[in-house]
Amino acid sequence: MNNIIFEEGKGIAKIIINRPKALNALNSETIKELGTVINEISEREDIKVVIITGAGEKSFVAGADITEMKDLTAIQAKELSRKAQNVFSEIENMPQVVIAAVNGYALGGGCELSMCCDIRLVSSKARFGQPEVGLGIIPGFAGTQRLPRLIGKGRAKELIFTTDMIDAQEAYRIGLANKVYNPEELLPKTYEMAEKIMSKAMYAVGLAKASINNGLNMDTESSYNYENSLWTICFATEDQKEGMQAFIEKRKAILKGC
Ligand code: CAA
Repeated sequence: MNNIIFEEGKGIAKIIINRPKALNALNSETIKELGTVINEISEREDIKVVIITGAGEKSFVAGADITEMKDLTAIQAKELSRKAQNVFSEIENMPQVVIAAVNGYALGGGCELSMCCDIRLVSSKARFGQPEVGLGIIPGFAGTQRLPRLIGKGRAKELIFTTDMIDAQEAYRIGLANKVYNPEELLPKTYEMAEKIMSKAMYAVGLAKASINNGLNMDTESSYNYENSLWTICFATEDQKEGMQAFIEKRKAILKGC
């Protein structure tokens, strides 16, 4: 792959968007490569957590590649948006937990990429924004849909209509960032969280992710029924037996993810 670095170890995969000269802007080749690596990881039962970050110290992803987008026809633009929307949906629905380690600019498609991840841990140097309407377009990698769901309709409209760039603390205040760390702490803290999650009953974590993601797209009654079904499945797992037995015996549970 030309634009993505993939590293793995101890059940954790790290995907680095690697176009630092263009502040890791997403051109169509990068989106395609991201889709390929996501599909491969999704098949891997040994990988439990995925971390997505950007190469270099300045940028997570500074958006879709404007140089490439500039001369697109409407039909090509539709295809680019659909491809990126699909890849981002695949990330959102990966069986693994996906953490964005936002190390700098997360603008346009970069903010949208961070939002399809389950959790956003961010450097104090991170900057978020949706600059699209300043370029004559709207967010097209599902930003108009995920941003209001994450931070509410009013704040999402403000960010998208004004194109204001916000810092890490403001992103934290409005619920876009889960936690803010000093730049040098970001990756160690991201791995720390990955390991903490992996110490839990990972089958249950996967069901909780599915329940949250899919349930939010259902009517209330259906979502409760869906949660009820997934909760019921937990009682067919070894981890449920062990987790509760360990509590009764006042010892640490040995959870196996099955
Ligand atoms: N696409 C293509 N190239 C980009 C880019 C992008 N999104 N963002 C930065 N770059 C390139 C710059 O053109 C520059 O290249 P050269 O050195 O060849 O000139 C290089 O990265 C470094 O950028 P700057 O010199 O501009 O760095 P800076 O520190 O002065 O500014 C910045 C940083 C504020 C992030 C600025 O680069 C910027 O505003 N970038 C564009 C951000 C943007 O508008 N993103 C949204 C794109 S649209 C979109 O994403 C649509 C969608 O819904 C998916």
